[in-house]
Amino acid sequence: MERLWFSLLLLAAVCRGQPCPKRCMCQSLSPSLAILCSKTGLLFVPTAIDRRTVELRLQENFITAVRRKDFANMTSLLHLTLSKNTISQILPSAFSDLRRLRALHLDSNRITVIKVSLTNLRHLILANNQLHSISPHAFDDFLSTLEDLDLSYNNLIQVPWETIGHLTNVNTLNMDHNLIENVPQGVFTNLHKLARLDMTSNKLKKIPPDPLFLRIPVYAKSKGSPLSSLVLSFGGNPLHCNCELLWLRRLTREDDLETCASPSDLSAKYFWTIPEEEFICDPPVLTRRSPLTIIMEGQPASLKCKANGDPEPEVHWISPEGRLISNGSRTLVFPNGSLEINVTSQKDSGNFTCIASNAAGESTGRVEVVVTAVPHLANSTSRSRDPSSEPALSDILTSSKVSLPNNETRGADRRVSLMRPDDSCLKHLGLFECMTAKCFFLYFL
Ligand SMILES: *[C@@H]1O[C@H](CO)[C@@H](O)[C@H](O)[C@H]1NC(C)=O
Ligand SMILES: *[C@@H]1O[C@H](CO)[C@@H](O)[C@H](O)[C@H]1NC(C)=O
Ligand SMILES: *[C@@H]1O[C@H](CO)[C@@H](O)[C@H](O)[C@H]1NC(C)=O
Ligand SMILES: *[C@@H]1O[C@H](CO)[C@@H](O)[C@H](O)[C@H]1NC(C)=O
Ligand SMILES: *[C@@H]1O[C@H](CO)[C@@H](O)[C@H](O)[C@H]1NC(C)=O
Ligand SMILES: *[C@@H]1O[C@H](CO)[C@@H](O)[C@H](O)[C@H]1NC(C)=O
Ligand SMILES: *[C@@H]1O[C@H](CO)[C@@H](O)[C@H](O)[C@H]1NC(C)=O
Repeated sequence: MERLWFSLLLLAAVCRGQPCPKRCMCQSLSPSLAILCSKTGLLFVPTAIDRRTVELRLQENFITAVRRKDFANMTSLLHLTLSKNTISQILPSAFSDLRRLRALHLDSNRITVIKVSLTNLRHLILANNQLHSISPHAFDDFLSTLEDLDLSYNNLIQVPWETIGHLTNVNTLNMDHNLIENVPQGVFTNLHKLARLDMTSNKLKKIPPDPLFLRIPVYAKSKGSPLSSLVLSFGGNPLHCNCELLWLRRLTREDDLETCASPSDLSAKYFWTIPEEEFICDPPVLTRRSPLTIIMEGQPASLKCKANGDPEPEVHWISPEGRLISNGSRTLVFPNGSLEINVTSQKDSGNFTCIASNAAGESTGRVEVVVTAVPHLANSTSRSRDPSSEPALSDILTSSKVSLPNNETRGADRRVSLMRPDDSCLKHLGLFECMTAKCFFLYFL
């Protein structure tokens, strides 16, 4: 009976003037044509495909590449399935004639890079591939039409979040089972149609609050939640359960199996059973900061400020004139709290302030910097004033950085007394320290 049915279908296809590809099934359900070639041992996309085909299924074969001519002229195709093949390469133009394509299934292949230009795409299924990154423009041609994006079971560490934030029509977003480490705040704000967001089994330590999450029903257990509600899954992440996750805890759902990974006293505890009071943050405490720093003018300076806290505090620096210091031509501010000044000038003298802050508070510290002038004595010697003609000089300059507590044995040479100490130095250090600091320089001259 089945054979007969099959033959009839075949006949139907032949009658329309197109042979059905070998071992495939062709359903001509007027006016649309479907070609089903799953599990037929195909190594390539068959060439004898009716170009008017509306649905084409090629799953569970051994196709390794998709070529330009494979889908040429198939302007009626709505649904293409290439799941469970061994495709590693897709040429950018391979789908360019598929102007009406709505659903593209590419799951369970070996794809590492994706860039397709399909203007009407609604469903893009890329689960179980080897994607480790996605270019920010990969989905540009269907940002406003896409309803369903499945990127689960890949190797993604980074996701082009800005692109995701523009998928205004998206309903289902699967990004589970990747290596994603962070979700930026507010990225889902404009995804008004999102009904399902799966972030299970990634490397997320925190999830920022988002207006979207207010749509999570308070008791997800009760079925028949309103259509506008959202199902958010984030189990299997190494959640850091401090005050930053309190907002999520307050949603009091009970349906998922989330646990905390840290801090240690909450580790492995079931997220929804931990009382709100235990989601704690610790304000920053400065643990280390540069002592008084004395630098010869023109030399680089490195100021340090280290703070502990939970969450990890951010450190900002304020200059002696009260300006917030950022990365610039002369200064670099590092995430670990170090401030580096490329070339110091005497104007840098003064009190720098470091501010360590986190969700629980802030703490400030002061680092006093004294930039000393290059000694005038150097001018009065018969030597050249050009440092580049005096290699020994630059060597010494780099070692002339002295900080308190002073090692008083250093440079405590008799010749010190010949020096006329600089005023700004004197003011801060007292005569002896100042001279040892400065004359260390002179001694070698
Ligand atoms: C596609 O259409 C063009 C123009 O009609 C034709 O030259 C070409 O052979 C067609 N390609 C395929 C694969 O059918
Ligand atoms: C440091 O100074 C050198 C020379 O003045 C300059 O070329 C370089 O860009 C500076 N770098 C930074 C990070 O400020
Ligand atoms: C400043 O630049 C350094 C080195 O390029 C970088 O590590 C640091 O994150 C930058 N700081 C800021 C605040 O952008
Ligand atoms: C901070 O980071 C910078 C750049 O990575 C490095 O040069 C500096 O030594 C670090 N400072 C501390 C205190 O670890
Ligand atoms: C830096 O701060 C200390 C202590 O508050 C103060 O004695 C000193 O005068 C300040 N230095 C400058 C240059 O303002
Ligand atoms: C060196 O001496 C000259 C003249 O006495 C003066 O104009 C110049 O500013 C001095 N240079 C330095 C670096 O002090
Ligand atoms: C001072 O320096 C000497 C030799 O450079 C060293 O042996 C000594 O331990 C230092 N003293 C202090 C207090 O750092």
